[in-house]
Amino acid sequence: MSPVERLATNLRRFPKVDVAHLPTPLEKLSNLGEDLGLSLFVKRDDCTGFAFGGNKVRQLEYYIGDAKEKDADTVLITGAVQSNFVRTAAAMARRFGMQCHIQLEERVSGAGDLYRSNGNVLLDRLLGVTIHTFPVGGDESGADKALYKLADDLREQGHRPYVITLGTDHPPLGALGYVEAALEYNAQRQDLDAFDAIVVGSGSASTHSGLLYGLRAIGDQTPVIGICVRRAASLQKPRVEGRVDDIDDLLGTNDTVQHGDVRVFDGALTPGYGKLNDITRRAILDTAGREGLFLDPTYTGKVMGGLMMLAESGELSGKRVLFWHTGGQPGLFAYADQL
Ligand SMILES: Cc1ncc(COP(=O)(O)O)c(C=O)c1O
Repeated sequence: MSPVERLATNLRRFPKVDVAHLPTPLEKLSNLGEDLGLSLFVKRDDCTGFAFGGNKVRQLEYYIGDAKEKDADTVLITGAVQSNFVRTAAAMARRFGMQCHIQLEERVSGAGDLYRSNGNVLLDRLLGVTIHTFPVGGDESGADKALYKLADDLREQGHRPYVITLGTDHPPLGALGYVEAALEYNAQRQDLDAFDAIVVGSGSASTHSGLLYGLRAIGDQTPVIGICVRRAASLQKPRVEGRVDDIDDLLGTNDTVQHGDVRVFDGALTPGYGKLNDITRRAILDTAGREGLFLDPTYTGKVMGGLMMLAESGELSGKRVLFWHTGGQPGLFAYADQL
């Protein structure tokens, strides 16, 4: 059995639902690439289709598959007010006939009215889910605890809750969506020259760890640069390392990714999660203006901003680079007053 077949077979052991529009396109960004002095391509995971698409669709196919197998009737999830994960989970729960409770955390200080009412919040409301709030933004375990408490209450009322937490104390089912995405990319890449680097957002780390694991499991050694959107590199690197080890545990493999192979860059993060900065604003405007392609302020704008910084510092200049677009465009409408 080839490594590709072995990985595909291993993944089929896990329940999942199929809602994503796949494969997503892989396209060239000639104009922006020329501006930046590199050969630039994009993997269009903003086009995964379901409920405005994005990376979270691939991840949630595994969580919702698991929830269905466990006969859950209610999905609980926590995230930032403008979380794409929350919006997509809520939509998928509804699609499969489940109730959904979402918990929105105060993660972005000083956010205005649009942030609280438009973009993903508007979509959450349209989905008819129950909305709870959590007053602290940086307390991952506190948010998860509050979610478990909500689940206990629902259980007492006779429901069968399924909890999707923020922390890393559960098996990385969402990352399996990106292990699978590595197989999709591998099939598309056969007609192209190899890339020198793949650049992708790194937040919960499901996307980054899953993609890195999937590539290495099939012998593809392309560097994967995770652009930090949530926490500094000194915290994000161990998080990604831990998650690749967790994927090994889940798939019954060993040391598929060496920790030294985990690369993160946090140059575009300041002043912090969900806060616009100059390089992100420039990335959003240049990508729209030169390619007709939209990015968002919290995730993909920062990732393209990081890519631009690496191009301009010389690290990526002249290289063949794949920007992995992870969607999130509904978030744009929550920042209309800042763009
Ligand atoms: C649009 C978008 N891109 C990237 C990310 C980061 O992905 P991950 O949480 O898998 O690290 C997120 C996370 O919420 C997201 O919504």
